[in-house]
Amino acid sequence: MPESLRVLVVHGPNLNLLGTREPEIYGTTTLQEIDDRLAAEAKEYGAEIECFQSNHEGALLDRIQDAAGWADGILINAAALTHTSVALRDVLEAVRLPVVEVHLSNIHARESFRHHSQLSAVARGVVVGFGPDSYVLGLRGLLDLLGRG
Ligand code: DQA
Repeated sequence: MPESLRVLVVHGPNLNLLGTREPEIYGTTTLQEIDDRLAAEAKEYGAEIECFQSNHEGALLDRIQDAAGWADGILINAAALTHTSVALRDVLEAVRLPVVEVHLSNIHARESFRHHSQLSAVARGVVVGFGPDSYVLGLRGLLDLLGRG
């Protein structure tokens, strides 16, 4: 029996505020609800997820480095760090795991400083604009490509 696939789900700064943060942009679903939905979705695929949120860039880097030892892939919403962090891009490249980048909002339809992602070039796929469904679609895409081996 092959071991089940394991995915690290990474949430960047301020995503702990989902539910009350700018609901007109991000909706009213909480981060806990998103994580619960992802866990249920992963279970359907016989996969497991570990979710991590931090407001600190270094903590995110440490967790991603650690994932090299156990995870099969990474699903990430790096929030504002998406647009600024070369360090996050570098660690995602360094761990050599398949990465799917997601965003609740359509970053391309918003302020110009959100149009560029430092991470997209090292991601296998990107899902934007579907609210919490972006995470679910991203997880399905990641598990599909991991399953194809
Ligand atoms: C976000 C988009 C980012 O521009 C923003 O800084 C966020 C959330 C999204 O999921 O839509 O914090 O990543």
